Amino acid sequence: MFQHLLLPLVALAISPLPGASQDPARSPAQEEPQDLDCGRPESSARIVGGSDAQPGSWPWQVSLHHSGVHICGGSLIAPSWVLSAAHCFVENGTLEPAAEWTALLGVHSQDGPLDTAQARAVAAILVPEGYRGVEGGADLALLRLAAPARPGPAARPVCLPRAGHRFAPGAACWATGWGDVQEADPLPLPWVLQEVELRLLGEAACQCLYSRPGPFNLTFQLLPDMLCAGYPEGRKDTCQGDSGGPLVCEEGGRWFLAGITSFGFGCGRRNRPGVYTAVAPYEAWIREKVMGSEPGPVFPAQPQGPQPGPPEHVDENCTIALPECGQAPRPGAWPWEAQVIVPGYRPCHGALVSESWVLAPASCFLDPGGADRPPRDLHGWRVLLPSRPRAEPVARLVPHRNASWDDAADLALLQLRAPVNLSAVPRPVCLPHPEHYFLPGSRCRLARWGRGGPAPGPNVLLEAELLSGWWCHCLYGRQGATVPPPGDPPHALCPAYQEEEEAGRCWNDSSWSLLCREEGTWFLAGIRDSSGGCLRPRAFYPLQTHGPWISHVTRGAYLEDQLAWDWGPEGEETETQTCPSHTETGACGLRPEPAPTGLRWPWLAEVHVAGDRVCTGVLVAPGWVLAATHCVLRPGSTTVPYIEVYLGRTGASPLPQVHQVSRAVVSIRLPRHLGLRPPLALLELSSRVEPSPSALSVCLHPGGVPLGSSCWVLGWKDPQDRVPVAAAVSILTPRLCHCLYDGILPPGTLCVLYAEGQEDRCEVTSAPPLLCQSEGGPWVLVGMAVRGSRELFAAVGSEEAWLSQIVGEAHFLPSSGSPYWPPEGSYLCPPDMAGASGSPPAALFLLLLTPLIQE
Ligand code: ARG
Repeated sequence: MFQHLLLPLVALAISPLPGASQDPARSPAQEEPQDLDCGRPESSARIVGGSDAQPGSWPWQVSLHHSGVHICGGSLIAPSWVLSAAHCFVENGTLEPAAEWTALLGVHSQDGPLDTAQARAVAAILVPEGYRGVEGGADLALLRLAAPARPGPAARPVCLPRAGHRFAPGAACWATGWGDVQEADPLPLPWVLQEVELRLLGEAACQCLYSRPGPFNLTFQLLPDMLCAGYPEGRKDTCQGDSGGPLVCEEGGRWFLAGITSFGFGCGRRNRPGVYTAVAPYEAWIREKVMGSEPGPVFPAQPQGPQPGPPEHVDENCTIALPECGQAPRPGAWPWEAQVIVPGYRPCHGALVSESWVLAPASCFLDPGGADRPPRDLHGWRVLLPSRPRAEPVARLVPHRNASWDDAADLALLQLRAPVNLSAVPRPVCLPHPEHYFLPGSRCRLARWGRGGPAPGPNVLLEAELLSGWWCHCLYGRQGATVPPPGDPPHALCPAYQEEEEAGRCWNDSSWSLLCREEGTWFLAGIRDSSGGCLRPRAFYPLQTHGPWISHVTRGAYLEDQLAWDWGPEGEETETQTCPSHTETGACGLRPEPAPTGLRWPWLAEVHVAGDRVCTGVLVAPGWVLAATHCVLRPGSTTVPYIEVYLGRTGASPLPQVHQVSRAVVSIRLPRHLGLRPPLALLELSSRVEPSPSALSVCLHPGGVPLGSSCWVLGWKDPQDRVPVAAAVSILTPRLCHCLYDGILPPGTLCVLYAEGQEDRCEVTSAPPLLCQSEGGPWVLVGMAVRGSRELFAAVGSEEAWLSQIVGEAHFLPSSGSPYWPPEGSYLCPPDMAGASGSPPAALFLLLLTPLIQE
């Protein structure tokens, strides 16, 4: 039970209880005189704040076992009767046989000596006729025991409220049980009964909380026979395995059973108090069912007399709890920033995740190369937190068990010797649940993480925009081709930075975490980069998969529900998305969708030659751009001009080019051909350009005419404004091409036909590239324009050997398509065509093999 969260139903595994006394059935006449009192425990000492109960504090608490396993709680209401929840016994609309159940009374620890315990077979289970499932109300069940309980200090009944009994909103009541201590986190050994103080919430106050979308964007309409108990801020609650157990309130020196633990949305989540079946409305039903049993349950009159129904206006104030974590005065002033000081080492940066726990990379503390065991002597270790005058001593170090071999789990939790008081500063960061979906376009920042040095530039917290999961997964995900849909934990999170990247800026000495904001609240979304190398991190390991481990260890880290639910088209996408197949050298030809503002063609480069003209270039590998020789080298000239390459440009507008990357060209390589200058030139960049939405290599077409793809000529509207445009084309069959341009074509030349009205879209002096894409596949470079022509292209496929030799990382796709050159003997051209040139006559359409694509 308590302090936190999940939705599945059942509980914890417990072996059959040895030593519980199974009383032989006795007739009521043989019973010792019955104590007709109710709701008065012998011992009343309790630990306040949600923790182990004292033995005997809650003598009506029953544990209901099925096949030796604790499943649900219950309350003893009479020697032969236990009240519990219907959903514990109804599966798929059918009531489970009573004989499969055992009621255990007087249990304190389910693991300890069971001297005080009494086990009773269940003779009958009664459920109200109207019960259809927890959300429809009437979630209660009466269990008749095969033999009455032997009353004593460890087993005595609770009082039942009469139908007119009103429990005051705000009353401090208690819930008890052996359920999970957080979502999906079972009560640890020795399974001691837990208790938690919960406040009753008035109907309107509770409905107000449940009317605001919470986990999974859900809202809920409460019914009149439901009670809410808990706190708007959450953190104290019942959970899986507590169902059927009591919610009791003390009035006039007796404990009344106000509610039966029924359901919740997760456990302990903010604005999602637990929902209990109100017992008072069922007075008549209970009396009717237990009629004739002696002694029966006790329904004392409400001590102060029935309270008037909760005055609605009192409840109308709808107090929504706001997130307690992740609030920062401004980006960079992070109230959770923690520095762990280990004597003799550089400080390690981490984040405060609760009153007592700091999360940091385990690699800061585990001896590299040496044993993976955490150091035992934490003496001298300190944690520096903002606004705290003194450094906090460290009590415990808990590394993630995969930390030493899995970079994605390079995490350790450090417990402070004493909890710090949380206020505006220090304040913990919010952690995401596993199902959190950070929307593409989310605003994120980098924060220091681990032992790295400071960033080289002045701006240590680059602003970033989260890219689509598809793009990130397909670029970095090596695990499989299927993209995790929204709500499944992603393999990586990719940010696109808002600032220009300077060539040569090296970030590899720094480690970073990724903080993302939703509705003004900051989440620790990811840790360090998985791409390695120089340059700033491009991909982060998502933290969301570690939420359960972090809450299990810390018992109270601030996991927060998703706050932004506008999933848009990507969220609604039900069909599974897949990645275009990777080449041996990784991903190529991907286009981020939606593209960060202004970016469309991540491989399209502006090649500025000697400051006097601009050619089109295409990024074919992180350090290489392919261009047309005639554009970058003036005919006849032998001197190599000064060339600069820009990627991520959206045109020559004077507006800041946020995603722009630039590099100088250090050498130009040409294939060795006899005679004529070869049409293709490789430009070697001064340094690599790591993959990003503004700079990503294209795939290369190996040879032959690509079949079944849509093809475009990609260029600029004019050489001045350089706004990228695409003109749809069809690549002509080799035979057709040969017939049209017979005699003038060097080997490896492709000809295209423009879609109607598109031939003037791009200008030709910059030598635009020809690209193709087949449905769902990557973008593939097929050729570069031949001098002065819009229809003729030099195929990259015919230079495959040269390209791959110079650029090891060039992404040639496996061979496909039809050969460039028609087989011998098929050189017969249709009449009137041989030797034709210029625009092909209309008759040509009949011969087209690759159909014109519609845009
Ligand atoms: N249905 C759960 C059970 O069977 C009880 C859940 C209570 N949840 C809550 N958040 N209060 O044990």
